[in-house]
Amino acid sequence: MSRPAIAHIRLNAFRHNYRVAKQMHGGKALAVIKANAYGHGAEQCAKAIENESDGFAVACLEEALQLRQAGIKNPILLLEGFFEAAELPEIVAHDLWMVVHAQWQVEILLAAKLAKPLHVWLKLDSGMHRVGLSPSEYVSAYAQLDQHQNVAKIVLMSHFANADNLSSQHTLQQIEVFKNTVACLNSQAYMADFSLANSAAILGWQAAKGNWSRPGIMLYGADPLMASDTKLRPVMQLTSQIISIRKITKGESIGYGSIFTAEKETIVGVVACGYADGYPRTATGAPAAVDGKMTRIIGRVSMDMLFVDLTDIPNAKIGSTVELWGDQVAANDVAKAAGTIAYELFCNTKRVQFSYSDS
Ligand SMILES: Cc1ncc(COP(=O)(O)O)c(C=O)c1O
Repeated sequence: MSRPAIAHIRLNAFRHNYRVAKQMHGGKALAVIKANAYGHGAEQCAKAIENESDGFAVACLEEALQLRQAGIKNPILLLEGFFEAAELPEIVAHDLWMVVHAQWQVEILLAAKLAKPLHVWLKLDSGMHRVGLSPSEYVSAYAQLDQHQNVAKIVLMSHFANADNLSSQHTLQQIEVFKNTVACLNSQAYMADFSLANSAAILGWQAAKGNWSRPGIMLYGADPLMASDTKLRPVMQLTSQIISIRKITKGESIGYGSIFTAEKETIVGVVACGYADGYPRTATGAPAAVDGKMTRIIGRVSMDMLFVDLTDIPNAKIGSTVELWGDQVAANDVAKAAGTIAYELFCNTKRVQFSYSDS
């Protein structure tokens, strides 16, 4: 018998969420499947929507090549573009699209000798101040790249810092900076395709609509706005089983650091899953479901095991299924208890068995 910790990946839910994202935003949607599809399996997720996806977005060339080797023919955008000039021939050879986000990339692209012109997504820093050209750099880069022999097409893009915060004005300010900058480009640029919206903007900011959206986290079923009436379906369900049960009396403690001490007689279940599997060590207090009944994590999460409170689940037994996140237990709620975000939970899920279904 193998270790019972399993990440069930429901590809039909992934497909459903892609359709929701595309329909909510309108236009075309690049499915963001970087970092191994946020830990879900990039090849499997890409295959699940290859017949309908307008394209995929990954972080870098290596991630794109993995998809091409798996037979994915859809457009693939490199969100960080290239890291050195030597990647450009490969980007051309594999027919990839790339973000250009920095002046040094503009210079290399202008100077390169390429077999074919490249499809560029020119990224403006409209206020996130991570990557992206400043508005003045953007205007001059656009003028140099537009009509240049190395450039087939330019899509205008920017990225939001605070789209998941509906009470912040920052997203509207970023849209304003984007519009003002585009207004300074040459007269043809107003017809160019443009792309602003990540998941939070698709869900929360009408004003961020462009010809292309770039949904990521919503494809995996976690609503970045934490809405309870979400149309999204969880893709990953992380489950394991109870492998030990004991009763402790008032005053007894459990696990490393003895951080949980029983205030009354307590039935404690040990679950085969821990921080080496990606379950956060800081998630004490997070919800979990045992045979469909809600309870919580108690004590300190250890490397391969964690504790759940079974006091109110008298039928729980060795082998009972524990959902750590998925359908009953929202990944967002576990993330909140652990002081992180669902993105990180998903990306960190490892070592467990991955099981794929599509119905
Ligand atoms: C440029 C860009 N666009 C879109 C996304 C997708 O964002 P989200 O997962 O919040 O939808 C990311 C993710 O980090 C990104 O870097």
